[in-house]
Amino acid sequence: MDLFEYQAKQLFEKYDVPVSLGEVATTPDEAEAIAERIGGVTVVKAQVKIGGRGKAGGVKVAKTPADARAAAEAILGMDIKGLTVHRVLVDPGAQIEEEYYVSYLLDRANRTFLAMASYEGGMEIEQLAVERPDALAKVPVDAIAGVDESKAREIVAAARFPAEVADKVAAVLVKLWDAFVGSDATLVEVNPLAKVASGDVIALDGKVTLDENASFRQPGNAAFEDVGAVDPLEQKAKEKGLNYVKLDGEVGIIGNGAGLVMSTLDVVAYAGEKYSLGGGHSVKPANFLDIGGGASAEVMANGLDIILNDPSVRSVFVNVFGGITSCDEVANGIVGALAILGDEATKPLIVRLDGNNVVEGRRILTEAAHPLVTLVDTMDAAADQAAHKAAELASAATAAHGNSGSLN
Ligand SMILES: Nc1ncnc2c1ncn2[C@@H]1O[C@H](COP(=O)(O)OP(=O)(O)OP(=O)(O)O)[C@@H](O)[C@H]1O
Ligand SMILES: [Mg+2]
Repeated sequence: MDLFEYQAKQLFEKYDVPVSLGEVATTPDEAEAIAERIGGVTVVKAQVKIGGRGKAGGVKVAKTPADARAAAEAILGMDIKGLTVHRVLVDPGAQIEEEYYVSYLLDRANRTFLAMASYEGGMEIEQLAVERPDALAKVPVDAIAGVDESKAREIVAAARFPAEVADKVAAVLVKLWDAFVGSDATLVEVNPLAKVASGDVIALDGKVTLDENASFRQPGNAAFEDVGAVDPLEQKAKEKGLNYVKLDGEVGIIGNGAGLVMSTLDVVAYAGEKYSLGGGHSVKPANFLDIGGGASAEVMANGLDIILNDPSVRSVFVNVFGGITSCDEVANGIVGALAILGDEATKPLIVRLDGNNVVEGRRILTEAAHPLVTLVDTMDAAADQAAHKAAELASAATAAHGNSGSLN
């Protein structure tokens, strides 16, 4: 989970990393009031989870509260690389003398952690990394030993920080490591870490990625979740413990096992190319949903419920390969799920079953003879039928919509 800058800086503050941290506003009025409280120069900063906000015009200096209001007016609603700005951080304006870069991250390839630091931070860091890689120090950090004062000094020396700030940067590096480990982050980045007129070294920006696998021991991290931005179906799926990702196609997908579901998406996208929806669009998968092993009626019903509530879904492809979970269990799961959903199940289900106990599984579905269910033997043929059905129903819906439109 990525954090907003203001959340990252709240986290830093908890670990005594020196930060500049104002308050968040969602309206120009609020921004003006915050600037009034802070007094003096403020900086109004777009809160979006993407880099390059400054260059996109999302960071503005405001000399007065009225300026802060105008800056918030300009920035709120702005589109930065496809993300809409809903909040701004009104930060106390710092008198910057120098801008540095420091970060910790998980270095998967080398199975270690990595400290990166540069004496030349600021908005051009990506360019620096490409053009003069030696100006960006990279120091491996042992997971157990971590960053104590002597390790911090090693990083400071590698990045050639000047002697007059060495102590302060080293102290920040130790605290930032505490924040990194303490919050179970996979990335903490400060750009810029600024030397300001008072001589202090403070974090003016913050980027943090938290490891969601550690959520069970980080109950505080739930408060960072941007609930408003989560797709409601994804939220519901999460509450039910399902691995669901919303996509923008028309064929709902349910499968058991992430690998099978991934290849089902490919096969449906491929089959869907034959069926045009007009405007250069063809039929595509509507979601990723892995119901895992087990596939009880309840899990199947939960999965179907999520998918059937997606208005863009026209047909559903249930693709199951029986392994430890046998096909008869899955077939009973489907029949049970349709009974649970009753009238709420309204879209055609194309079911392909194979593997462990497939004969019995198919017998159960054939016998149940549910009007929405079509059994297909192979994955390719089932993908084709699901895509075909989706195209047919999508064009029927467009026609119906067009007709009612012409009545007005
Ligand atoms: N509180 C502040 N006081 C003075 N100047 C600031 C303050 N915050 C940011 N700045 C200036 O604005 C520049 C850009 O700010 P910041 O680093 O937060 O955004 P960004 O780097 O463009 O965004 P991102 O890190 O997402 O790419 C900084 O390099 C710094 O010069
Ligand atoms: Mg930055």
